[in-house]
Amino acid sequence: MSLYHALTVMDVRHETADACTFTFGVPTQLADSYAYQAGQFLTLKVPHPEGELLRCYSMCSAPTQTVNDQVQLSITVKRVVDGRASNYLCDNITPGCRLEVMRPSGLFVVNDWQQDLLLFAGGSGITPVFSILKTALAQGSGQIRLIYANRDERSIIFLHELNQLRQQYPERLEVVHLLDSLQGVPRIGLLQSLCYDMQSARAFICGPGPYMDAAETALHNAGFNADTIHVERFVSLDSATAKRDESRPQTPSDSAEASTVTIDLYGTTHVIDCAYGETVLNAAREQGVELPYSCEVGMCASCMCEVTDGDVELRHNDVLTERDLNNGITLTCQAVPKSKTLQLKYT
Ligand code: FES
Repeated sequence: MSLYHALTVMDVRHETADACTFTFGVPTQLADSYAYQAGQFLTLKVPHPEGELLRCYSMCSAPTQTVNDQVQLSITVKRVVDGRASNYLCDNITPGCRLEVMRPSGLFVVNDWQQDLLLFAGGSGITPVFSILKTALAQGSGQIRLIYANRDERSIIFLHELNQLRQQYPERLEVVHLLDSLQGVPRIGLLQSLCYDMQSARAFICGPGPYMDAAETALHNAGFNADTIHVERFVSLDSATAKRDESRPQTPSDSAEASTVTIDLYGTTHVIDCAYGETVLNAAREQGVELPYSCEVGMCASCMCEVTDGDVELRHNDVLTERDLNNGITLTCQAVPKSKTLQLKYT
């Protein structure tokens, strides 16, 4: 099965001066492959004039939303200063364009919709948080507090929809807007003071790094356990590429043993050789086997699969929890075989 499919852009909506939402049409025969959970993301091949760019963007739509009886699949892209992919998409993609899109992935997801949710979003970090919020309102029963930080009022994405949802669910949804232009950059103390009465909630955080760090510390200070805090870090693929080059494997010694890796890729089996110290993703690519990936630095989980036999060592991991690792989940972009044979499975 091909990892990417050309999906047609059905709608482009300008959310703010620098953010656009793109809605894709999904043919019926691909509906299962593009089913997703709130909080997940899509990886796109952006057809830039300087060469194809791989980028991941979170869904802002919710799996509970439908258009013409089909599940809505929308991403929101915010322009990044000098960002090649985000500016290309916002400037060039119109309804009718086709883009190569990989099936949804990501671990920033909710396991229990009946729990209370404490949501922290900063800027375009609202995108996966908005998907979670809409799904929780539609199919959950808990209280939801969204703490949403932006530069100023004009940069608030989904302001109108949030106001509508607040009116629709006045008993369950509370939205706290924080604006740099009014309060300055949100500090830990302020964020901690907004955690009141939510100690039994699950917390989800997405936004710029300093905001996420402040929110995480605020939650810890407010008594939240680490395993109730979920963080989605943005991946800058330009810097990721540089980091990847630095982390190339050392040249294997002649005596070091290679591994044979058997990969079940959505039902198709591939067998590859992996040199000592080489990542599975790299070995697969060099042998012409296309595996899913986006960031290549262990931050996004789009390369995630299960180890069904053998051992691996992860060079770097910013996304899998202790529990994921204990359940045999791994990242092929960072996984180096530690056993003579290894079996992996994508589901
Ligand atoms: S490709 Fe992003 S974690 Fe492996």
